[in-house]
Amino acid sequence: MELSLFVLEICFSIIVLLCNPVSLKSDASLFPSDFLFGTSSSSYQFEGAFLSDGKGLNNWDVFTHKPGNIMDGSNGDIAVDHYHRYLEDLDLMNHIGVNSYRFSISWARILPKGRFGSVNKAGINFYNKLINALLLKGIQPFVSLTHYDIPQELENRYEAWLSPQVQEDFKYYADICFKYFGDRVKYWTTFNEPNVVAIRGYRSGIYPPSRCSSSFGNCSSGDSEKEPFIAAHNMILSHAAAVDIYRTKYQKQQGGSIGIVMNAIWYEPISNSLKDKQAAERTQAFYMNWFLDPIIMGKYPAEMQEILASNLPVFSNHDQEKLKSGLDFIGVNHYTSFYIRDCMFSVCEQGPGSSKTEGFALRTANKDGVLIGESTAVDWLYVYPQGMDKIITYIKERYNNIPMFITENGFGDNDKRDGLIEESLNDVNRVEYVSVYLDALAAALRKGADVRGYFLWSLLDNFEWTSGFTIRFGLHHVDYTTLKRTPRGSAIWYKQFISNHTTTHKILMPKHDPGSQRQYFKTI
Ligand SMILES: *[C@@H]1O[C@H](CO)[C@@H](O)[C@H](O)[C@H]1NC(C)=O
Ligand SMILES: *[C@@H]1O[C@H](CO)[C@@H](O)[C@H](O)[C@H]1NC(C)=O
Repeated sequence: MELSLFVLEICFSIIVLLCNPVSLKSDASLFPSDFLFGTSSSSYQFEGAFLSDGKGLNNWDVFTHKPGNIMDGSNGDIAVDHYHRYLEDLDLMNHIGVNSYRFSISWARILPKGRFGSVNKAGINFYNKLINALLLKGIQPFVSLTHYDIPQELENRYEAWLSPQVQEDFKYYADICFKYFGDRVKYWTTFNEPNVVAIRGYRSGIYPPSRCSSSFGNCSSGDSEKEPFIAAHNMILSHAAAVDIYRTKYQKQQGGSIGIVMNAIWYEPISNSLKDKQAAERTQAFYMNWFLDPIIMGKYPAEMQEILASNLPVFSNHDQEKLKSGLDFIGVNHYTSFYIRDCMFSVCEQGPGSSKTEGFALRTANKDGVLIGESTAVDWLYVYPQGMDKIITYIKERYNNIPMFITENGFGDNDKRDGLIEESLNDVNRVEYVSVYLDALAAALRKGADVRGYFLWSLLDNFEWTSGFTIRFGLHHVDYTTLKRTPRGSAIWYKQFISNHTTTHKILMPKHDPGSQRQYFKTI
């Protein structure tokens, strides 16, 4: 009786397997055993302590203190006080069961005046303590060298990204980070979303250094047709300089890898016409491939060269040599998708989309009165999970399936200041969003994409740039008066998801091996 039931069960399983080849791979084995599940953060949005322990002012400190720049008049002076509460935050991460944590180093905390001043030992100490505490809990640090914030000194001295001098500063800073932290940090990224820095800092001017032409925004100076490309050029060459230092001085001995994080939007042609399809491709060239093509293939996309002509800087032979240092992986920040309408062969209204600097393409969420996906409290965020599969597959095909990490994905909600906290804690919309996006990521994995990790933005509610504290992205609610952290439904859901999809246990740091203690607890 029992045996025949067993046989029946086996037969049934075989039938299911034969009829449904997709289920051959169980969900658990879909994510490789060394897949990183983590949460994401950045220094300016999390740390606070903006004047503590010798930190220098950065461009965002200065920008947020100018009236009118931030929606609710707030700033990151305190943010969520991660600088003082990192141990508590680490406990929250450990409770969720993540095996990695993505954060960025505050450049001005390490070098308050860039290479024109000395190293701030207190800054080095803070990141040493954070990194050591993470490793003690079996959580891999995944570190960006800069996530929008740079020492204000560099703006004051030579206009930062507009000057080739910045390459020297970035190289100097990267070298210090590899030297002090690289024995324990195995995942480095040079930049977070340099495309957003170039566009928002130098085309629309809504981020520091607030530069644009009058037809693109309200800035006191700038050139929206030229400067985004100069800033990007210097960021690309700064990336190359940092990777070169890592490759020649550190990588062999430290054994880590290094990449760059791009903001990656999926662009869907608004119609099946050839011109809209080409416009969607062109938009990707002007957005993401703008940086990845030079770093991976040594040259700017052909579409950019054609349209921008002399407004696009040129790589010298010497630069091209430097670009050969390349990268080890691509970090993908993906949240949303847009439709693209052609403005090169079709007539578009004056205004957005009609300029060379945008590649003559109009971005819209709306097609014949229907949105591409459900809208959210965040003005740029539409729920279109297919975009996750499509952007991963696009990158896989264009760049020969180079390893990828989803370095950010998440859901923003309104500040429910006047509502009940319970309402904010019961975040079913966030759970739904993350769940369908992870399904789409799994679909891309099944088709062979080499994605090695997923970082949810974010562990906590935090300072959302020009939206200030009006938008909440956290798995944990933060009370901005008391700074108390409270887990939302999504935190519990993510914990379950990770536990359902991982088979291996985290490897904790060996506690009684003096050799490894030395390795992990390097201090200055
Ligand atoms: C542009 O900026 C100036 C100076 O900051 C301000 O007075 C003015 O109101 C702004 N105009 C618009 C349209 O935002
Ligand atoms: C985890 O697995 C359990 C048991 O199969 C299931 O009930 C639950 O919905 C899963 N949760 C997540 C978040 O995947």
